[in-house]
Formats: sequence, structure tokens, C-alpha cells
Amino acid sequence: MKVLVTGGLGYIGSHTCVALLEAGHTVVIVDNLSNSKIDTLNKVMQITKKNIPFYKVDVTDVLAVNSIFSKHDLDAVIHFAGFKAVGESVEKPIEYYHNNVVSTLIIAEACRKYNVHRFVFSSSATVYGDNKVPFVETMDLLPTTNPYGETKAINERILIDIAKANPAISLSILRYFNPAGAHKSGLIGESPVGIPNNIMPYISQVANGKLEKLRVFGNDYNTVDGTGVRDYIHVIDLAAGHVAALENLNEGIHIYNLGTGQGVSVLELVKAFEDANNIKIPIEIVERRPGDLASCYADVSKAKQELGWEAKYDIVAMCHDSWNFEKNRF
Ligand code: WQD
Repeated sequence: MKVLVTGGLGYIGSHTCVALLEAGHTVVIVDNLSNSKIDTLNKVMQITKKNIPFYKVDVTDVLAVNSIFSKHDLDAVIHFAGFKAVGESVEKPIEYYHNNVVSTLIIAEACRKYNVHRFVFSSSATVYGDNKVPFVETMDLLPTTNPYGETKAINERILIDIAKANPAISLSILRYFNPAGAHKSGLIGESPVGIPNNIMPYISQVANGKLEKLRVFGNDYNTVDGTGVRDYIHVIDLAAGHVAALENLNEGIHIYNLGTGQGVSVLELVKAFEDANNIKIPIEIVERRPGDLASCYADVSKAKQELGWEAKYDIVAMCHDSWNFEKNRF
């Protein structure tokens, strides 16, 4: 299939483009480079040995988006493009609602105009809010603690309503847990602009001396060791999940958790990183981060049953591959 990948030079988008190309699909990438680098395109082409049409376009630009759809006979869209920093979304709600929701509407309108009926949407476990773990796809969504999470929930509802109105549309909503790790080549990985918000790139930068120590946000949660528990999933597994969702996409509306089903605490993650890479990570226990949940991990049975997909890599592989990417980055 010929797939338009919005945000295709981002962390998850770039790994998914590699997986799509290696599965025999062709991709067209659109990305405004607001949180990615053009060099990632070269790296994806280097890994896959394929030429890839790329458009430096903001997906809120209606004319530019329609021009891309008019040039390519697309079979599907995987929509990653969007702002994704939780903390930043609290400070900049207008930008987050405008960018993340308007872009989804523009892509959906272009799909209708150009008869593209397969749509895979990049959602997030954040939409579950403070539900009881493990999170299951059939749960009612609860309010999240931030505009970023709300834009994901709103986009899910918009796309579901659009799919309900047009039975020809096949929609797959993928709720990621905590993506981590990097491509085995070390050529692509998570390279956030500025100081990382997410823990794995933060630990990797502590490991290479760019950052002094890891501040552990609270150790008084009701968890195995008091620190936050998350379901870390290797980005390669996540990319494979997108290919599985696309290739199994039939009419109707489908929602899948993409996680491992395993919860890992902050202290367990630090130890796994130290053991995997033989590196000491200095830590300091500090106050909880506002908005954090104690525990967040997935029930992953639906994706396994319906897509035949499950995560293959464990936390040790994620720690090894994150470090392998970080130390090769410069
Ligand atoms: C993980 C754990 C922190 C940093 C976010 C988004 C989610 C998704 C993934 C986009 C928590 C602790 C973290 C640090 C720490 N993003 N931590 N020190 O918040 O679970 O999820 O990223 O889709 O939508 O919400 O990820 O990596 O920030 O935190 O102790 O310096 O690590 O408290 O327990 P989070 P995270």
C-alpha cells in the first residue's frame, strides 16, 4: 500500500516508516520539522535503501495538504503529526488544541476528498486518565490532566464519528504506552529538542554526561517501590504494531493498546539501564511531578488476538538501544 505518514520524521513516525518500507509498502512523508530533523530522512533512506518523497509541510496548511493528496494515489494515512509535550500543553493550550485538532480535521477532509479510506491514528494511553490498571480498550475514558491528552481524546471522538458516518472508512486508533529505545542501527532514535521530558532520553543523557543526575519524581506512590510504574514499549515493537494494524485494517472502527502489559518502576528502569550498559546513573529523589499517575500499564490481549501482534523486546533491550543511539548521536 502507498501510505501518507504525517509526522513521519518524528521518533515513532520514522521507525514506522522503516517498518512499512521493510514490509514492502511505499511511504510519502510529510513533516514540518518543528520537532524533528531533515537528517532523519537521510537515515531512514540509508536504513531502507529506498527513496522517499518528502514534503516539509505543516498539516494545518489546507492547500499544501491537498496538493500532496492530489499528487499521490494514496491507499492509507498514518497520522502522527502533532505537538506532544504534556507540560508544554498546560502552558500553551491554544497552540495544542489548534495544531492537534485542526490538523486531524484537515487530514480527514483530504481523505474524504481523495477517497482515502484507511486511517491509522496515533493516540496515547494518556486518554485513559486515572482509570484502574491494566487499561483496557473498552474502558470509558476519563479526563486527562493536560491539554495534550485531551487533544488525543478529542481526535479519537472526531475520527470515530467520521468513520460512523461513512462505513467505507476503516479506522484504527492505536493507544501507545511509553515508547522507548531506538533502531538497532543506532541511526535513528529519540532525540528531543532541549532537555528531555521523557525519562529514557533523560537517563541516556545522564549516562553520557550531558545531564548531571536523574531526579526521580516521587517515591511515595502506592507501587512496588514507591516510584512511578509505566509500560515501556520498544519503538521497534510500536512500529511493527502500526504495520500490523494497517495490514489487518478492515471496515469499521478498531482501538488497540500498544504496550507490553508489564509495569516497570522508575527505580527498576534505572537498574535495568545500569545493568544493560554497565553505567552508573546518579539519582535524587524529589517531589512528585504534578499530573503524574502512580501506575499506567496495558492489557494487551486485544492486539494479540485481533492483529497477531505482541511486543518482542524487553526493558533491557530498550535500555541498550537507547544508549546505543545516544552515544552515536554526535
Ligand atoms: C515516566 C515515569 C515519571 C522523568 C508521557 C506522556 C505520554 C507519552 C509518553 C506521548 C513517570 C518518571 C520522568 C524524569 C522521573 N507521550 N520520571 N524523572 O509521563 O509516563 O508519559 O510520555 O504520547 O502521553 O504522558 O512519561 O517518561 O515523562 O515519565 O522520575 O526526569 O518516569 O514520574 O513515573 P509519562 P515520562
